[in-house]
Amino acid sequence: MSEQLKRQAAAAALEFVEDGMKLGIGTGSTALHFVELLGEKVAAGMKIIGVPTSERTAELCKKNGVPLTTLEETPQLDLTVDGADEIDPKMRLIKGGGGALLREKIVASASKNMIVIADKTKIVDALGVFPLPIEVMPFGLGSTMIALEDVCKRFGMQGSLTQRKAADGTNFVTDGQHFIIDATFGRISDVEGLDTALRAIPGVVETGLFVGIASKAVVAGEDGVSIIDP
Ligand code: 5RP
Repeated sequence: MSEQLKRQAAAAALEFVEDGMKLGIGTGSTALHFVELLGEKVAAGMKIIGVPTSERTAELCKKNGVPLTTLEETPQLDLTVDGADEIDPKMRLIKGGGGALLREKIVASASKNMIVIADKTKIVDALGVFPLPIEVMPFGLGSTMIALEDVCKRFGMQGSLTQRKAADGTNFVTDGQHFIIDATFGRISDVEGLDTALRAIPGVVETGLFVGIASKAVVAGEDGVSIIDP
């Protein structure tokens, strides 16, 4: 059922894609449906070009015949379509469950608009139940962890910081060769303040808080697909 809802959201977002558009293409299980459906449109003659937000998505695009470019060749995009881990009423997001947050944020920020695709479970009153991914430099990790602990506690972290591991138990490494620290908040009451404080730590590369980036969400539930456009 959940896969069906993700596919419905992806299909509805495709309605916003126009011939000739330069797209940012997201990462994750919901974005996967978008890539498959986009591939069908391309096969039917639609002319688009896309910048993938991860190596995984790049592979998927190639498999589905979606033509790719880079931000070097195409630095300004029309639209990014991507999933999210949480969406709050102000269209602020937690992203990075799949570890692609840095490229996702670069690509979405290079786009005129970002549409989030999700099933209804991603809608929350307040961000923070999903652990917040923070991308960090491997260099100086011990010192960065102390600074992260201090900032996260000041901003009300209820749980702890955990370094993300890959399936084989080794440290998870992002496409940019960084590590991910997941911070279990419970509830983030000052999203902008936390984002600013975290990004001021020298070893922090980026956070999974997307503030002022997404313009709309296409959300699928048992009762149908709705567009949230606050
Ligand atoms: C990857 C992401 C994903 O968009 C997010 O984790 C949602 O994934 P899914 O669609 O599989 O639930 O931010 O870094």
